[in-house]
Order: sequence, then structure tokens, then C-alpha cells
Amino acid sequence: MPSSTSDLERFFRRSLLRLLTGEREIRLTRAVPSRDELREKFKYIDALGLYLHIPFCERICPYCPYNKELYRSELADGYLRAIKREIDLYAGIVGDKPVTSLYIGGGTPTTMLHSGLADIIGHVRRTFDLRCDVHMESHPNHLSAENLDAIEALGVRHLSIGVESLVDRHLRTLCRPYTASQVKQAVGRALAHGFTCVNVDVMFALPGQTEQEVAETVRELVKLGVDQVAAYPLFLFPYTPMGRAGGPRGHVIAQSFTRRRMMRLLEQIFYEAGYERTSVWAFTKRGVPRYCSVTVPLYLGLGAGGGSYLRDVFYLNTFGVAEYIKALDGGGLAIALSVDLTQKMQRAGWLYWRVYETRFRRADYRERFGEDLDAAYGRYLRPARRLGLLKDDGEWIALSDDGAFWLHACEDLLSIGYVSQLWGASRRELWPERAILS
Ligand SMILES: C[S@@+](CC[C@H](N)C(=O)[O-])C[C@H]1O[C@@H](n2cnc3c(N)ncnc32)[C@H](O)[C@@H]1O
Ligand code: SF4
Repeated sequence: MPSSTSDLERFFRRSLLRLLTGEREIRLTRAVPSRDELREKFKYIDALGLYLHIPFCERICPYCPYNKELYRSELADGYLRAIKREIDLYAGIVGDKPVTSLYIGGGTPTTMLHSGLADIIGHVRRTFDLRCDVHMESHPNHLSAENLDAIEALGVRHLSIGVESLVDRHLRTLCRPYTASQVKQAVGRALAHGFTCVNVDVMFALPGQTEQEVAETVRELVKLGVDQVAAYPLFLFPYTPMGRAGGPRGHVIAQSFTRRRMMRLLEQIFYEAGYERTSVWAFTKRGVPRYCSVTVPLYLGLGAGGGSYLRDVFYLNTFGVAEYIKALDGGGLAIALSVDLTQKMQRAGWLYWRVYETRFRRADYRERFGEDLDAAYGRYLRPARRLGLLKDDGEWIALSDDGAFWLHACEDLLSIGYVSQLWGASRRELWPERAILS
């Protein structure tokens, strides 16, 4: 019997995994594919997305789970060389398949704005058949008028800014190196630049934060005219300083109710202002193409900590920046871990991401898996519909706001748990023998 909150979480996580995939655990191992094996994996992929990871930041925030190190120019030089080598290695494997989305994330991609980013993107354009705009994350302190020109010149049309809050007290708690007034000016400059979509990330359910403060931040962003807001509750990852210092786990349930109340408030503000929900966490102005990290279900991840999802396999590169550079300088790949995905795991993974986007078509499932969605998932869809978690017109299935909340609760349990285990293991050991997610 589970005896503590974390045992209970593990128990629910395992039950959910069993239910969705039939597996007791997910086991990643140090099985690096040969180039021929990789070529085989790409054979059945018609179009893919590219994810490019820039693992540098000027300061490390105490809550941040992502793979990143402090920026050093010599390390960035080596990284530029290595990522171009990795692109070259994949060139012969991907061939002329169209690349239909390019996402540059971090860390903080704009740390390399004047030290290689243009070179990397130019190399991507020369190497792959790129048929898309660029989506990129940025730090508010990097958004001077000159830098915004440089960002636009990279082909970035969708820009995301890590704002987090417009209340100075909370910016201090999060150790963000700017004031509310400075960050508002940065957002204003980005908006005036004419990008297709400017997304702003904010965090809520912060320590001591009131609902009024959440509303204040979001109303100001709406007033500024941002195209999209991604609002995440503060997640505590056990390997971060804030996660280690986090309160007793008994607070988890109270936290869920706080999050629910705050999310309801956000929904109300955004819907009144003409935004629509475009993912579990994001609200986009009606008519604006949304900013998002992955628009196609299959993607190749480049860079330290980059992950690739290629239909029936998932690969994860080493998290160590120096290790990544060394591997590519030596002519090898940087893949540290991999897991073959059973048909049931692929179906569950596909469904997870489509539901995360809050709506999908039955026909897309049929096209991907060659079977009827209801045959595989009807017994879960029917009660979810009856409980008001889903809307279903026979063709489209869409998550209701309540559905989005419960998905968030499951996400908290499943993916945050797995991300903590996988990224935690990948940080502890740069070439782990295995990582077991349970
Ligand atoms: C890679 S960062 C954004 C770009 C840039 N590095 C910055 O911080 O401005 C991605 C976003 O993830 C969100 N995030 C990071 N850690 C989080 C956590 N522990 N809980 C919830 N959201 C988090 C923040 O909103 C952050 O802006
Ligand atoms: S939140 Fe952004 S700036 Fe802060 S450590 Fe994470 S990636 Fe870097």
C-alpha cells in the first residue's frame, strides 16, 4: 500500500502508464544506432520538425529544469562547430525530406545571437529543405531594438519572451534580472517589430502570489497587445534549488486547487479579451497563428540534451555541453539514450500531444495508425464526454476547460515525474547506462 504522498504519486503514475501503454516502466538504454539504422528510421517519415537546443544562459534561475549552463564564449565557439557537424551528420540521413517546423529553444537561444546563431540557422537552411518560419525563445534582457533587428534577420517570425510576472516582488522571488517596467518596455519593442506572433511566458501559483496579482499581470499583457500568453503554474523539479527547498508534499492537493482557481481566472480574462485556448497552457489571439514548440508529430532534436521522436523510437542526446562537443569533434553522434516505442506507446504518445493541443481530428488518428480511434480508446472517450471533459462532434475531439485542467493534473503526475527522472539522470551522468522511468 502507498504510505506517503510521493508513494501515492508513483502508484498513480504507474497505474496510468499501465493503462495507457501496457508497460510497467519506460526503460531507456545506452543503445546508440548506426547511421544505417538511423537511415532506416527516416525511411517512413514524410516530413519532420527540427528542434535546436541552445544550452546557455547568463544566469541560472533557481526553478528551471532545462538543460543549460552559464554562457562562456569559448564554449559557445565549440558548440557552434559541433552543432554544424551534427547537422552535417544528419544531412545524409534525412535527405531531402521537407522540414516543416524549426524551433530554437534553450536555455536561452539569444545568448548566441552575436556568437553563431546566424551561422547555425544559415547552415540549417543550406542543408535541409526548410519550408517554414522560425520559432525562437528569447530573454527579455536581450531585446534591444538592434537585437530585435538581428532576430528578425534570422528569419524568426514567431518570438517567445520569458516574462514570468509583471509584479516586482515575484520577479525578485524568481531571481529574474529585470523590473516589471523594464520587461514591459522589452515586450512593447518586440510587439512594435511586426513579428507574426509574440508569445509571452508567465508563471502562476508562485509562493505568496494572490489571484489579484495573477490577474494584474495578465490584464497588462492583454493591454500591451501580446499575441499569445503561455501561463504555466510553477512546477517544482526535485533537482532544482527551488525544488530541493520546496514545501512538504502534503501541499500538492492544496496547490492543485489554487492552480485551478487561478486557471479559471485566466480563462475568464483571455476569453473576454478575444483569445482562444490553443494548448493546455496557451491562449492565442483569435486569428493569429500560434507560437508552439512542436507542430509536427515527428521531430529531430539537435544540440546538447536535444531529443528526437521518430515514430517508433526516441533518442536523447547527452546533456553535457563539453561532452556533446567532444562526441561530434570525434566524428560520432551525441545520442546518449534511446528507447524503442511499442505500437501502444506510440498511440499513447501521439494522443497525449494531440490532446495537449486541446483538439484533434479522428481522421488524423486513422491516418497515422490505420485504425479507428474509438476501437482503441472508445472506453475512455465515452465517460470523458459524459463528464464534460471532452466535446466531440464526430469529426473533431476538443478538450473542455475542465478537461484541460484534468489533463494538467495528469501531466503533472506523468510527464513532470518522467521529465524529472529522465533529465535528472541525464544531468547526474552524461553517458548513463540506462534510465528507468516509473
Ligand atoms: C527556456 S525558458 C524561456 C526563455 C529564457 N530562457 C527565459 O528564461 O527568459 C522557458 C519557460 O519555461 C517556463 N518555466 C521554466 N521553469 C519552470 C518551472 N519550474 N515551472 C513552470 N514553468 C517554468 C518559464 O515560463 C520560462 O519562460
Ligand atoms: S528560465 Fe530561462 S534564463 Fe532561467 S535558467 Fe531557465 S532557461 Fe535560463
